[in-house]
Amino acid sequence: MELFQVGTDPWGQEILIRISWGLLTLAFWTGIAFVLFHAVYAVVWKPKLTPDGGGVPSGAEANVPQRVVRHTGAARMFHWVMAASMLTLLATGFLPIVGLEFSWLNIHWISGLILILCILYHIVHASFFLDFWSIWILPGDLKEAMQRTRRQFGQAVDVGKHGKYPIDHKLYHLSVTIFALVVSVTGLLMMLNIDTPIVPRNETLFTAANWGIVYVLHGFSSVLFVTLTITHIYFAIRPDKLWMTKAMVFGSVGRDDFLSHHDPKRWVVTQDGPK
Ligand code: HEM
Ligand code: HEM
Repeated sequence: MELFQVGTDPWGQEILIRISWGLLTLAFWTGIAFVLFHAVYAVVWKPKLTPDGGGVPSGAEANVPQRVVRHTGAARMFHWVMAASMLTLLATGFLPIVGLEFSWLNIHWISGLILILCILYHIVHASFFLDFWSIWILPGDLKEAMQRTRRQFGQAVDVGKHGKYPIDHKLYHLSVTIFALVVSVTGLLMMLNIDTPIVPRNETLFTAANWGIVYVLHGFSSVLFVTLTITHIYFAIRPDKLWMTKAMVFGSVGRDDFLSHHDPKRWVVTQDGPK
């Protein structure tokens, strides 16, 4: 399979134009294959493993209120506006490529700017108002990753309960952070290659070869979002994850759900709310 579409510059040298759209097909089927594989794994293999978070009670259970706020109103608003802009970007970016012609470009860059504003807002909100470190992979998570791997191979390892986010959520968030940055920076540059009322067109900013690199980076991170979004929505609608999905709609989780997944010493909550 070709990875890139190539062309020639005015001097006859071969240059990159963009990624090959075969990678879009690959990203889509990778997402579907992951979902199918995981759905079978969850029925056949997972029940044989030591369940999560047996272990000894951490002693902080008494402080956990009946309902625990998982996502504040502002965080939920951010998530849903970002999700809507991302789904619009995916639809406007890829439907024309798979054959559904419509005038996509204006809707695309406007949604792109909304996504970028959401991300800027989220950086400020998460840095000053949320528990910043709760979503990042820290040295302690590597221990958890090793334990989880050993457990997958059938060893009786008690992984223990986690803080607010388990390592798979942290990995997903890290991937989204990296590729959203790439797609945003390249998307902003690509706005100089089209007519918009926001910035004057300036396609001479880069040589044809360098524009090719910008388009390749935009395309590559865009197709990764196809796989990331398919798997993310799959986990959100799995019956065993619905307690978390409800919290992304209504804000809080019940005490029982909290205690069966979280160690209250690692995600400290009080009667007044999470810390
Ligand atoms: C994950 C989110 C995004 C996806 C899936 C996506 C997807 C795409 C795709 C498939 C194309 C066609 C590229 C080509 O012809 O080689 C494109 C073009 C474009 N994208 Fe995005 N994009 C995303 C985010 C953004 C952002 C954040 C912006 C910034 C405002 C943006 C601005 C543009 C522009 C201006 C073009 C048109 C370039 C042209 O036709 O010359 N995109 N995008
Ligand atoms: C419409 C379908 C979607 C549903 C049902 C959904 C659901 C959820 C839920 C339930 C969570 C919270 C997980 C937790 O509490 O630990 C979450 C978090 C998150 N979502 Fe979505 N989401 C959707 C679309 C998207 C899209 C399109 C993006 C774009 C990148 C996105 C990015 C994120 C990020 C970065 C997080 C934080 C990391 C995490 O908690 O795992 N979501 N989503």
